[in-house]
Amino acid sequence: MFRLDHKHALVTGGASGIGAAVVDTLRAQGAVVRVLDLDDRADLPGDVTDPDVVARAFARAEAEAPLDILVCSAGIGFVGDILNTSPEDFDRLMAVNARGVFLCCQEAVRRMTAHGRGGCIVNICSIAAETALAERFAYSATKGAVLAMTRSIAKDFIGRAIRCNCVCPARVHTPFVDAYLARNYPGREAEVFAELSAAQPIGRMGRPDEVAALVAYLCSDEAAFITGAAYDIDGGVMAMR
Ligand SMILES: NC(=O)c1ccc[n+]([C@@H]2O[C@H](COP(=O)([O-])OP(=O)(O)OC[C@H]3O[C@@H](n4cnc5c(N)ncnc54)[C@H](O)[C@@H]3O)[C@@H](O)[C@H]2O)c1
Repeated sequence: MFRLDHKHALVTGGASGIGAAVVDTLRAQGAVVRVLDLDDRADLPGDVTDPDVVARAFARAEAEAPLDILVCSAGIGFVGDILNTSPEDFDRLMAVNARGVFLCCQEAVRRMTAHGRGGCIVNICSIAAETALAERFAYSATKGAVLAMTRSIAKDFIGRAIRCNCVCPARVHTPFVDAYLARNYPGREAEVFAELSAAQPIGRMGRPDEVAALVAYLCSDEAAFITGAAYDIDGGVMAMR
């Protein structure tokens, strides 16, 4: 079950963290995977906020084979409430986390409808789209947009064999978290790491491979009945608030 043989996938943000784990897991399930990421070592180095870059990356990926799967994991964080979020901060977050998802999903839908086989999109959202997290004003706004875009795509393209879902992780231990700790709690990283782990009902952070396993399932034919859904993967956070 859950094999992805003969499927061609593109993963944004696939050079690090959750995206990198998705790349490994999709490959282990038999998919051919290309990575679009700012990181120079990516198969398709580039910025998801730039429509020309995104169009070129998808064209290069599709030159090899028609696209079956898109996973949007590229994203950035920002800590602040509405009073200490500048317009520039807001625009930067929106550009990567919302516009980047829009541009990549648009390319994918264009190509999946053109080749006629349809396909599957999974966006990496966050529980911040569903519940209030302290000092995540701009970040939550971007993830709310991801959730809404996911449902909208699912509705508009259900008749053309495109499924679109998102996953909503709570805190997952990736370089994203390590960078946050180094920036905000220099010298106290281990202590705050333990506090953040204990704050999740299950007592730890998630692992990227746990999120990747859910993504792989959603991409598989066994998930053919699932579209427009948002799956929490959160160690009990949403159920036990
Ligand atoms: N780590 C968590 O606790 C957590 C929780 C919920 C949701 N998420 C979401 O999961 C996704 C991945 O997060 P992560 O923790 O793996 O982060 P990460 O920092 O480890 O990886 C993010 C990747 O995105 C790439 N990227 C950033 N901006 C880009 C751009 N403009 N164009 C192309 N690539 C770009 C980076 O180069 C990096 O490789 C993000 O969307 C994040 O919001 C993370």
